[in-house]
Amino acid sequence: MSLVKVKGTYDVLSSEARRWQALETYVKAVFKKFNYQEIRTPIMEYSNVFHREDENSDMVTKETYNFEDKGGRMLTLRPEGTAGIIRSYIENKLYATNDLVKLWYMGPNFRYERPQKGRFRQFSQFGVEVVGAMDPYLDAEVIQLAYEIIKGLSLKGVSVKINSLGDKASKQNYMKVLKAFLEPKKDQLSPDSQARLDKNPLRILDSKDPVDKELLKDAPLPLDHLSDEAKLNFEKIQEALALAGVEYKIDKRLVRGLDYYSFVVFEIQADIEGFGSQNALGGGGRYNELVESLGGPSKPGVGFAFGMERLLDALELEGIKMVDEPKLDAYFITFDETSKKEAMKLQSLLRKENISVDLNYSGKAFKGQLKEALAQNAKFLLILGENELNMGKINVKNTKTEFQELIDIKDLVINLKEMLHHV
Ligand code: HAM
Repeated sequence: MSLVKVKGTYDVLSSEARRWQALETYVKAVFKKFNYQEIRTPIMEYSNVFHREDENSDMVTKETYNFEDKGGRMLTLRPEGTAGIIRSYIENKLYATNDLVKLWYMGPNFRYERPQKGRFRQFSQFGVEVVGAMDPYLDAEVIQLAYEIIKGLSLKGVSVKINSLGDKASKQNYMKVLKAFLEPKKDQLSPDSQARLDKNPLRILDSKDPVDKELLKDAPLPLDHLSDEAKLNFEKIQEALALAGVEYKIDKRLVRGLDYYSFVVFEIQADIEGFGSQNALGGGGRYNELVESLGGPSKPGVGFAFGMERLLDALELEGIKMVDEPKLDAYFITFDETSKKEAMKLQSLLRKENISVDLNYSGKAFKGQLKEALAQNAKFLLILGENELNMGKINVKNTKTEFQELIDIKDLVINLKEMLHHV
């Protein structure tokens, strides 16, 4: 039996890894511009970090990987970053030294979902969590950050959707109203929506089922059930977004897949041909009760996360290249043991000067070695045989111009540096 990867996972091979690296470098630079600091938390947490009384989402109740370790502790592979980061915020008392913490993170998450295009069982997110202040300008900053990430990548078919669920009381009141509206239609709802009616009616609002959609046409909407405070908050966020130059649309049916949100929620959605139905590139919102629910002080929070696989897909579909073909500075071709030894020595001198260099290990004749050098995209060939070695010289060949010169081995580092400067 040949071994295969776990369902819903994937390997990142070298050419793809370069795209990942480019994306990672890019977003880190954006986070720096916005003055966010990195946090890294474990991939596994005690299950009760995610499994809480106030969290009834499918993601947590049905899709988590839970297991008992050998010490009988119940652990969960994180399905998202937020809850673990808040656990860490509380455990490390980050609130004691800073009124406001602005954190960014990046890493893998695990959800036992049905794999499809853009949906995996292990996937990567980067995101931010800002904890300690309730300020519409801050919400706007977080949305602006998400927007800047997309804009800076030159993605076109992407839009920011925002909505407000209101404060805790407005949200709970709205859920009652929605439930009352749906109860008489219960039998006609899709099985998924029927199951959600009691525990999680909000999620029914963005059901993709055509029958549900029809039934929901005249459904009451969260925005029409906001308290005055929540209404004002949403208006101020929009005002601040306009000041920050963020383009957005209000999507009155936008709800999110986790229960911890109140007030503003938002999503960055792709409308790109060929993208598939999993079109949320990223999403987030405010969570003012989560810190307390995890046993911490009363501190409001807001954040978002992007799915990196989906973002890379979007970039590919829009033909946006973040990386050039990799190039190697120099490649040694040798013909015998003595010249190989010399090359070995020279390699480390060159690398000390930040010159990337490789050596042929195939033992093939010149032609074979040359082929491999070209496949590696080497800018220069460093050809070293018995004759050259006897003269204390080495042949340096520019693979593009094919110009070749014989130089003193002792001058190789300085000369090659100069030559690389000019290519
Ligand atoms: P989420 O909407 O569940 O939010 O996930 C954020 C993003 O992760 C999605 O928009 C999507 O791009 C990506 N994603 C989610 N599940 C998968 C999957 N199975 N395969 C591939 N990509 C996936 C959260 O996780 C919240 N923690 C965001 C947040 C942070 N809210 C406040 N702070």
